[in-house]
Amino acid sequence: MRRPGLEPGFLPREVPPTAGLPLRVSELFGPLGACRTLGVESEKVPQRDQFLPDSPPHSGTMGQEDGKKWAAAAHSQPTIPKSDRLLVTDLPALAAQFLGVEEVGISASGSAALVLILQTLRRLRARRQVIVPAYTCPLVVLAVVQCGLQPVVCDVAPGSFELDLDHLAALCGPDTLAVLPTHLGGRVARLDPVLAVARAAGAFVVEDAAQAFGARVQAQAYAQALVEAPEGTQSVGLAGDAGFFSFAAGKGLSLYEGGAWLARDAALRAEIAATARQLQTPAWGFEAWRSLQLLGLALCYRPRMLPYVYGLPLRRAVRRGQLAQAVGDVFDLPIPLHPVGAWRRAVGARALRRLPAFQAALARQAQRRLPQLARLPGVTVLGVAPADAAGDDTAQRGTVAGDSAQGLWPFFMLLLPTPAQRDVALAALWPRGLGVTRLFIHALPDYAYLRPWLPAQHCPHARDLAARMLTISNSPWLDDAGFACIMAELERCLG
Ligand SMILES: Cc1ncc(COP(=O)(O)O)c(C=O)c1O
Repeated sequence: MRRPGLEPGFLPREVPPTAGLPLRVSELFGPLGACRTLGVESEKVPQRDQFLPDSPPHSGTMGQEDGKKWAAAAHSQPTIPKSDRLLVTDLPALAAQFLGVEEVGISASGSAALVLILQTLRRLRARRQVIVPAYTCPLVVLAVVQCGLQPVVCDVAPGSFELDLDHLAALCGPDTLAVLPTHLGGRVARLDPVLAVARAAGAFVVEDAAQAFGARVQAQAYAQALVEAPEGTQSVGLAGDAGFFSFAAGKGLSLYEGGAWLARDAALRAEIAATARQLQTPAWGFEAWRSLQLLGLALCYRPRMLPYVYGLPLRRAVRRGQLAQAVGDVFDLPIPLHPVGAWRRAVGARALRRLPAFQAALARQAQRRLPQLARLPGVTVLGVAPADAAGDDTAQRGTVAGDSAQGLWPFFMLLLPTPAQRDVALAALWPRGLGVTRLFIHALPDYAYLRPWLPAQHCPHARDLAARMLTISNSPWLDDAGFACIMAELERCLG
């Protein structure tokens, strides 16, 4: 397989670690006016065709009751009145339509959106602490610090990415400004218990949905933020006070760097929008650089180019033992806060039309692969109830949050029985270019560069995740043969 002259580890093809929507040339250069709306397309092409009323059940084990439920969900996609559709061409409006909310703000990144939200909350309530899960993206800590606030680390529940409720209750107090539950890997976190603890302390809840743009849950009584959700589903980010998404390279929808924020309450939305107007100052040189990077991403986000831009640097860093660098866990302050330029917004708006169908295809692929993963001895797939992993139809649903949630499947998060087995599996699979990798290398307190803001701390469950987890891409480029290779390797390591 190796080409002469290239360093060891070179592969002719590579699967990305997470399933991002590849951009089309027509989406880079089409005129803005040609950007039709989601509503127009959704009328002609069923976006969640696995939900169609007439389609057969997804699996033999799916009962008629479930079939009806899914059929109903087919009609739960947000729509806007026909008369409005052709007016909607820019990314904020299309993103709002996609999510089924009145308003979405676009920001320089997911962490920039978090900065805008936290700066706003801080103005509204004179408190200093922000509670974050011990296993999450280090950028979350930097965003808190950039706002002049104090990050406080809460351990995750055992074998889960969700906040440990006992620890959370112990940490919440009169100085808690906000709590940040996280929908990791597109899986939907249970929010009711977190909301109860946070509310009791008078704290805001900000949903980190950086990895969950498009995930939906059963609607609560939050109709004021919703345009229309006939079957009672709503986007993640609306159960708490505010939420944010990431459009970074490799995410479902990507602007190379970008993000979005939303808030349930109109008054809070107006406050965050005011913060954005105040803090987001145009940086044309930087925007030009980001535009070039997006162009580069569009050209290189394909299996034949990924070895050069992703695989080789990854494997070189792994060989040097620089694991945090290898997976891109090392970040700097300050987090840029400039507005996203018109060209990148237009690219995102055009690509967004294809996102629902892409995410539905990923869900179908996940549905086929989950039962195989569930058969691996001693392995837990995070964000999936065991019964679901065993072959139920529930790949659509973020079963962490219960039956009603419809999470996403950018990748699978697997907990192997022991750290040693995880390490052996990764040593075998990292060099193969099959999209198997690690998510965050450490629990937050274990990143040396975060030490100035995070004291050494006991967070055994987050450390356990860092030690036993690996992720498997759910990219459509990971074909059945590639997935079978991964399964064979995992079975060998677990045997
Ligand atoms: C869980 C989580 N939160 C926050 C962020 C920050 O988003 P961004 O990279 O767009 O700033 C990320 C980035 O991947 C993330 O995974």
